[in-house]
Amino acid sequence: MTDLFIFDSHAHYDSEQFDLDREALLGDVLPGKGVVGVLNMGSDMDGCEKTLELCGRYSYVYGAVGIHPECAGELPEGWLSQIEGWLSRDKIVAVGEIGLDYHWLDACPKERQQEVFAAQLELANRLDLPAVIHDREAHGDMLDFLRRYRPRGVVHCFSGSAESARETVALGLYIGLGGVVTFKNARHAVEVARTVPLERLLVETDAPYMAPVPYRGRRNDSSLIRYVIERIAEIRGEEPQTIANAAIENTKRLFSLP
Ligand code: NI
Repeated sequence: MTDLFIFDSHAHYDSEQFDLDREALLGDVLPGKGVVGVLNMGSDMDGCEKTLELCGRYSYVYGAVGIHPECAGELPEGWLSQIEGWLSRDKIVAVGEIGLDYHWLDACPKERQQEVFAAQLELANRLDLPAVIHDREAHGDMLDFLRRYRPRGVVHCFSGSAESARETVALGLYIGLGGVVTFKNARHAVEVARTVPLERLLVETDAPYMAPVPYRGRRNDSSLIRYVIERIAEIRGEEPQTIANAAIENTKRLFSLP
């Protein structure tokens, strides 16, 4: 296996799935495996605070703060100004993870998801910050939101068709691809990986979720992104290092990283 430098543009190291070995993993293991950058996502208020802590502790960890659609049901008074405050902190570079998730409507009804998403898109635009966007089974409404608000940012773990990826790119956004491209039944993701312009591609793990083949079903971490990069390289007929380098450049450009 080639030695790749890895920037994971989307991970959740605040997840309790890392409670037993978070320090060892982020302190030694991942840097030892070529991980040079991680963008950690806040999903709820607590996760945002943990993201701030991780950014303070590890030089290569950056953060996004925001409310995930599944967590949008009940929010404390003043949640949006709290997020705005966190966005002024060092190494917090994006509003995320925000979006629409119509798979789990029991967790939060559509109208409420849309309201919380819209408020955060407005915030991102007002502060001229990129957004990290989650879209699950909401492709039609998502495109409407992207057309209406025109945010900068990335649609992560992109699950739409190649056609909707084209439209998303035309709206100025980046496309995030992760473990799904390695799955046997991943027709859409493979077609997107083949056709997305290289300068708009980000790679990600969504750790601890979405582990790529041959680790599918296990806990994911940023070192496994190499399987995603190698699969995308294979699909596009390019060298893994070409994909890895482009993804790092794109990540730095989008999030204005040093
Ligand atoms: Ni995520």
